[in-house]
Amino acid sequence: MSVQQSEFEISSLRQFNRTLGEQYPDLKICVFDEIDSTNTEAKRMIADGFSGMCLLLANRQSMGRGRMGRSFYSPGQTGAYFSILYPAPAALDTAVTVTAAAAVAVMRAVRGLTGVQTEIKWVNDLYLKEKKIAGILTEAVTASEGTHVIVGIGINLSTADFPRELSSIAGSLGASEVSAAEMAAESFRQLYPFLLNPGDRSWIGDYRSCSCVLSKQIQWNGENGPCEGRAVGIDEDGALLVEASNGSIIRLFSGEISLKAK
Ligand code: BTN
Repeated sequence: MSVQQSEFEISSLRQFNRTLGEQYPDLKICVFDEIDSTNTEAKRMIADGFSGMCLLLANRQSMGRGRMGRSFYSPGQTGAYFSILYPAPAALDTAVTVTAAAAVAVMRAVRGLTGVQTEIKWVNDLYLKEKKIAGILTEAVTASEGTHVIVGIGINLSTADFPRELSSIAGSLGASEVSAAEMAAESFRQLYPFLLNPGDRSWIGDYRSCSCVLSKQIQWNGENGPCEGRAVGIDEDGALLVEASNGSIIRLFSGEISLKAK
């Protein structure tokens, strides 16, 4: 039975072959016109015995997943929805480090391809004009082949119409001239040195300088309820350093923060 490929799949594979094919011969590339979630598909691949590095890209996702069990709105033709799957290095980094490195990779890819400078909201969101334009969901999966890390990235390239509940918080780059494949390829290229060498911290300077939370009052949900403090730094692993009202420094590795209204 012959399976007909969509325009999206054909043109994306062509672009990937041109941009990544020869440079990364060990990289498997999978492109889908529609899938439930590229992260979920990556998990299925691992369950089926895949081991190695893979880039999965979809034109649209019917069940795109975000952090904290939320969904990620993923309509066709207007966004880049992709997952980078790779074998976890022996010294597995904390999710915060992988996610922070990926945020810088995406920030650089967006800047390089569109000229737009975005801000990074710890730990995984990219913002433009106070609206979220990209998010990252990092997951680790252990199977008989060992542990793999899945870095799922969603970027709103030109999405204009969001569901009502998202319209005041989500935005897009307004970059209809950039294809999803170009954005995914450039993000992969930017992240690759870190995938090879998890000790690489060449991204940390950009992570700090593009942060929109440093020196701001923030809130988060701690183990014993709502907490607040001032974001005073980001350590070498990407953890957020927060000064509590009693002067003590708290190190946040995960969770979600919000900026306190002025
Ligand atoms: C977040 O903002 O909470 C993270 C969003 C991550 C979305 C991407 S889109 C590609 C990959 N597949 C998914 O289901 N989620 C990630």
